[in-house]
Amino acid sequence: MSPEAPSDPEGRVRRLQIGDGELVVAEHGTGTPCLLVHGFPFDRRMWRGQIDALPGLRLILPDLRGHGESEPTPPPYTLVDLAEDLRQILDHLAIEQVILGGLSMGGYIAFAFAARYPERLRALLLLDTHPKADPLEIRQGRAETAARARKQGVAALVPELTERFVKGHDIEPDKVALIRQMIASTSVEGMVGSLTAMAARPDSTPILASITCPTLIVVGSEDQITPPAMAREMQAAIPGAELVEIPGAGHLAPLEAPAPVNAAIRRFIAANLTQS
Ligand code: MLT
Repeated sequence: MSPEAPSDPEGRVRRLQIGDGELVVAEHGTGTPCLLVHGFPFDRRMWRGQIDALPGLRLILPDLRGHGESEPTPPPYTLVDLAEDLRQILDHLAIEQVILGGLSMGGYIAFAFAARYPERLRALLLLDTHPKADPLEIRQGRAETAARARKQGVAALVPELTERFVKGHDIEPDKVALIRQMIASTSVEGMVGSLTAMAARPDSTPILASITCPTLIVVGSEDQITPPAMAREMQAAIPGAELVEIPGAGHLAPLEAPAPVNAAIRRFIAANLTQS
């Protein structure tokens, strides 16, 4: 599809040669650029509730390496490599400054980007994420999951990975089905690559005090992976950061509860940014 094609449910889809592979990037809407980075093991479809709901924003939705429709590159690589992919996407699109949003692993990548390119940030949206490195037991769990993905394939992991995101609270069945589909369409290399990159990431807490752009933190009240207490700790460390807790939502608040998440983003943008 050409970049000039009219807007449709898929958006304006490009295939960009980034590093050693081809990354798929969809765009929706016009206005201030806003790059949203999905979590693990998902893809750009997790932002379906944000499309057409954030007027004045040009949403840029990539599939990370080996996720969704993007080509895998052989692991290992790091979250810094994934942050460099984002920088190259922005360069391809000739975008100097961006509102950068990331959910969970997308937030970990946003911290790596913020540490390297603070001047390119217009604002940060930190969604169901946290800045800390993995403790040993989580690193070991990721290594086991990566080994099983290699040995048994991704399909064998879909039930337990889905359970991780849906347990303990209510999610509509079509959203559970989408979570399952996104996990199932992650490649083995993408799964292993992201697990390895997350396990090796450093603690980003030291950079929080130096974040100077407007920052909105959003967390589901039922998020058991990056719970509200972690979000409050992160808010206290980022100068002027705002925090919105979404009642009843879990770890995938933007997918599970798009209306209050979008309202929070619209309010934050109106209060902090002049649109361009
Ligand atoms: C995610 O949603 O990106 C993952 O749950 C992050 C993680 O496993 O730390």
